[in-house]
Amino acid sequence: MHVDISRDLKFSKLDHLFVLLAEGKLDVNVPEAVKKVIRDARFDGRPDESITVLAGEPRKITLIGLGKAESLSLRGVRAALTSAGRTAKKQRDKAIGVVFPYALPKLDDEQTTVVVADVLAQSDYKYDSYITVRKEQKRFPIDATLLAPASLDAKRVRQLAETARAVAAGVTTVRDLGNTPCNVMTPERLAERAQEVAKLAGVKCTVYGKREIERMKMGGLLAVNRGSVLEPRFVVMEYAPRRAKKHVVLVGKGITFDSGGISIKPAEKMEEMKFDMCGAAAVIGVVEAAARLELPVKITAIFAATENLPSGSAYKPGEIITMMSGKTVEIVNTDAEGRMILGDALHYASNLGPDHLIDYATLTGACVVALASDAAGLFTNDDELARKLIDAGERTGERVWRMPLWDDYKDLIRSEWADMKNSGGRWGGAITAALFLKEFVDCPSWAHLDIAGTAYAENESPREAKGATGAGVRITIDFLQSL
Ligand code: BES
Ligand code: MN
Ligand code: ZN
Repeated sequence: MHVDISRDLKFSKLDHLFVLLAEGKLDVNVPEAVKKVIRDARFDGRPDESITVLAGEPRKITLIGLGKAESLSLRGVRAALTSAGRTAKKQRDKAIGVVFPYALPKLDDEQTTVVVADVLAQSDYKYDSYITVRKEQKRFPIDATLLAPASLDAKRVRQLAETARAVAAGVTTVRDLGNTPCNVMTPERLAERAQEVAKLAGVKCTVYGKREIERMKMGGLLAVNRGSVLEPRFVVMEYAPRRAKKHVVLVGKGITFDSGGISIKPAEKMEEMKFDMCGAAAVIGVVEAAARLELPVKITAIFAATENLPSGSAYKPGEIITMMSGKTVEIVNTDAEGRMILGDALHYASNLGPDHLIDYATLTGACVVALASDAAGLFTNDDELARKLIDAGERTGERVWRMPLWDDYKDLIRSEWADMKNSGGRWGGAITAALFLKEFVDCPSWAHLDIAGTAYAENESPREAKGATGAGVRITIDFLQSL
């Protein structure tokens, strides 16, 4: 959905006006005729309360209840806006208006505007490239206009709308990349897509193939790649605006399919492991949005891509692998493959000497057990960076929760035969994975985001469509803007 934000809605030009109302806050900035509709319908904004009435201008008005403003959750807001977007799509509305009560707890008017515009922009998203029966509604792009809060001036509103559209484009790229089937979104194709995005964004992009990866001695990436007939890729995108003062390096996990390898996963839900490249997709999406916004920060986005499959040549438990950094790893579980490819990518990234280094990875099931799908796990050696990322997460609705990175847990990945082993088992699984990564990081300001629970939704819900969510883009753009 294309979203604009405006200080006054052209009510007569709308097919459908959606008015979201919180209990006790029914006095919103709409024409008297709309207020009359609210009164006549005896609408009081209870959650799940919704009613559509035929009007003159606009033709239709839908009132959606949000419940009490004080207890309004992001989840609730998302669900209400998504339902508005889906309704508009079903009814083939071309131009809709959205009125929202600027009363979210802990968020100011500006942040609320950004969150609402973001959710709205994604509300009609569906990945249907492979649905051969073309539904007509596909051809209707919806134009949504969000009524801005009175507290923001016109210039600020324009800026926020631009940010929202750039983020929406980045998020949509990430969702498309993630949702594309894994026979199509191969390491080669993922690298090609990075190049396409880079070209459109005016960003430099270098793709390394197997020979170059061998020459760089990326032992972790090569070990995981041994089970696959498809070649690995290592990709470096560089957005370098002239006025940049800071250099931020972003690293993504690009496993285009994770079967577990020789330590094979159970069949159930294995198809979801096509989403195991969502970290890589995230860094591509961030570059796209950042370049479009011309953020004054130098950004290098890096990802390693390969499949993780079993075969006669696949890496196996009992092997010892020498990583690019020279450190050795005893393989005890081939399903702990993400850290193997990230170990090399983080070592490469550290050599660039960035001010901040952030990685994005669907790394552990343990993180999903701990935080489910409402927050990504945040691991960092820098308290200041932690604060900034947590704040950015709260502002954008893309939450992160800090987890410990204490060396005490390192016992769990101690090896008798090598510098470390690649898995510490189930206990503290997200933490030992992060500690493993830390062994390859040489940067005083590093953060690891475990997005295993947030990168994709297992099922369609009132809150979001099934599949890739675009995790990583919103929080990172907000963080970059705060530098
Ligand atoms: N890609 C998975 C993690 C994952 C699990 C992502 C569920 C999304 C949903 C990762 O490569 C993996 O298999 N991790 C193992 C690590 C274990 C072998 C130490 C896990 O979490 O079970
Ligand atoms: Mn795995
Ligand atoms: Zn994986």
